[in-house]
Amino acid sequence: MRILVTGATGFVGRNVVAQLVDKGVQVRALTRNRAKASFPAAVEVAEGDLSDPSSLDGLFTGIDAMYLFPVEETATEVLAKARQAGVRRVVDLSAASVTVGLHDNPVEAAVERSGLEWTHVRPAGFMANQLQLFAPMVRARRTVRYPFGDVPMLMIHEADIAAVAVAALLEDGHHEAVYTLTGGQAVTVREQVAAIAAALGETVRYEEVSREEAREILKAQSGFSAEAADLMLGFSDYDGTEASSADGYSDQDWSALEKPWPDVEKVTGREPRTFAEFARDHAEDFR
Ligand SMILES: NC(=O)c1ccc[n+]([C@@H]2O[C@H](COP(=O)([O-])OP(=O)(O)OC[C@H]3O[C@@H](n4cnc5c(N)ncnc54)[C@H](OP(=O)(O)O)[C@@H]3O)[C@@H](O)[C@H]2O)c1
Repeated sequence: MRILVTGATGFVGRNVVAQLVDKGVQVRALTRNRAKASFPAAVEVAEGDLSDPSSLDGLFTGIDAMYLFPVEETATEVLAKARQAGVRRVVDLSAASVTVGLHDNPVEAAVERSGLEWTHVRPAGFMANQLQLFAPMVRARRTVRYPFGDVPMLMIHEADIAAVAVAALLEDGHHEAVYTLTGGQAVTVREQVAAIAAALGETVRYEEVSREEAREILKAQSGFSAEAADLMLGFSDYDGTEASSADGYSDQDWSALEKPWPDVEKVTGREPRTFAEFARDHAEDFR
């Protein structure tokens, strides 16, 4: 069995690669820039761009199944090339916001039309987002300045998303399955800060700020676009328009994501990783 991993340098993709390699599976990893990417020695590296299908000639030869990082504009063409080359199965990275009905996902639609066996993986918010949101503040001042201090958030560890994807890639029985992935329990920002402090073995303070202040703080942090800050803080909706209510998503029905979903455990046989584990796994990123 040989698996193609696209988005292979991403948070999820690099975990998909590592978990497949651990299982002794042959992996071909796609990156747009081979010189910048680093992979385990056993991995065959391929260069190409999902948004330019003509750059993918030969990519699918000898591949049985693929993990698809979502690039909307070209998904149909990419999947047609995969099918033509004999790929049988695709697992696509989607989002729990589709489960909640916040938006459609054209990549899911393309996957369903592709003629391949398919599985959609729909994660909730990544714990790894806090590496962009909180880690710069923790590194600089051991203080997290953010609103929503006591609001419970269901988040997911990137290694659990990968574990579900790997199961769906390697095992039979996941065709036409849709997995919504959350952690085992919701965590508030205060609890996240406490977990980061415990992982560091140092004091980390939490300072509640308004959404407006947080917007300025995030925009000043490198790697954070104004659009991403606005979406994260509920100033804009998924389509980029102004949020229709003062506290962001409150017009949307998020009830399907108020309680943890059982899918990680159902598919992998183990409980989802906690935020405390995430903080320990990334302690050096916060230090
Ligand atoms: N963050 C969240 O809370 C959240 C929640 C639900 C769903 N999601 C979904 O998850 C995605 C992020 O996943 P992630 O964190 O694993 O990814 P990531 O860390 O953003 O990295 C994705 C990788 O994909 C590769 N890539 C990007 N555009 C490409 C293209 N046109 N062709 C080929 N490769 C391309 C890049 O690798 P190279 O530079 O090496 O080519 C990049 O490292 C989001 O885009 C969203 O769809 C995110």
